[in-house]
Amino acid sequence: MKRYLLTPGPTPIPSEALLAMAKPAIYHRGPEFKEVLAEVKEGLKYLFQTDREVYFFTSSGTGSMEAAVCNFLCSGDKVLVVQGGKFGERWRDICMAYGLQVDSIDVEWGKAVDPEEIKSRLEDDPSIKAVFVQFTESSTGVKHDVERIAQITGPLDQTLLIVDAVTGIGVYKIETDAWKLDVVITGSQKALMIPPGLSFICVSDKAWRFAERSNLPKYYFDLRKEKKAQDKNENAYTPAVPLVMALRETLRLIRTEGLDQVVERHARLAEATRAAVQALGLELFAPESPSNAVTAVKSPKGMDSSRLIKHLREKYSITFAGGQDRLKGKIFRIAHLGFADRFDVITAIAGLEMALYDLGYPIQLSAGVRAAQERLLK
Ligand SMILES: Cc1ncc(COP(=O)(O)O)c(C=O)c1O
Repeated sequence: MKRYLLTPGPTPIPSEALLAMAKPAIYHRGPEFKEVLAEVKEGLKYLFQTDREVYFFTSSGTGSMEAAVCNFLCSGDKVLVVQGGKFGERWRDICMAYGLQVDSIDVEWGKAVDPEEIKSRLEDDPSIKAVFVQFTESSTGVKHDVERIAQITGPLDQTLLIVDAVTGIGVYKIETDAWKLDVVITGSQKALMIPPGLSFICVSDKAWRFAERSNLPKYYFDLRKEKKAQDKNENAYTPAVPLVMALRETLRLIRTEGLDQVVERHARLAEATRAAVQALGLELFAPESPSNAVTAVKSPKGMDSSRLIKHLREKYSITFAGGQDRLKGKIFRIAHLGFADRFDVITAIAGLEMALYDLGYPIQLSAGVRAAQERLLK
């Protein structure tokens, strides 16, 4: 049966990338791979809207989250973590694992953080060395206003802004340099359209100054070592060569489409998805500040979303993501991220309607598809 992967990572992979990975292996310290790395570097700079280098590790996104902690801080440093979902909690957990003093802003899941609260926390306590936030919190489908937060942290010499943009890069135009974001990380299995296994990190000059004094333990995720190697188009250790070959292809696709168009496509798909689920009488989980990477929808009344997701997977080979942790059974998440186009949205919504119908939920077939089509035709 044909399978439809509509989760916020891993995401579908275009054939250009699949074919690149099927080619015979090449040596990661040979001239051919150096050329690939040189091209990939340029593509990443474009994607991150930066003149600085974007370094990568062979790891999932969490590897770069860890690198973002252990390279810039010192033991006992105080940090402020925005905690509005599973990935905000991950920032907290990593910081705690490294012995940092963690202050948090607990944001109701489904809501975005109020940047003014960050401002007042930083005014009250200038010893805070870093603010950690998600650009988009994939577990709740929320977008935080990182551009505004950066206006607060940008002028502060003593505080870094560290952004998890794992489902933000390639979905939004994130102006890493212009907005003065200090550390931005992402992962390969999202809008970059390749399999899991690479993570990326971009570092401001201010953050490099913090790196000089950082005394936290690090080995594999030591950015200074990667910088030294990657500045010469090499890697400190053996990278996932096939993934890098695939990345070269998807970065070319992004360039060809143009970042503005990529961003616009994500916005259109997200808007159509939101309109469609609402036309079916379902409620958005994050109506005020929804992410364009993934739409979180409250479970239909009286139904555990796990049942809906299981039915979609087993009967229609459509994979949506469920809720995590305290949201398990309470929401489902439809991704429109990466290698996604309008007919992915139509498939998602048509499948959702059929599954709800099968499960006896009162819906009008094609009401959601129609709402999506109307948005997509605009
Ligand atoms: C916002 C966000 N941050 C971090 C991660 C962690 O990435 P990984 O699972 O690749 O380690 C994810 C992955 O789903 C994510 O969506």
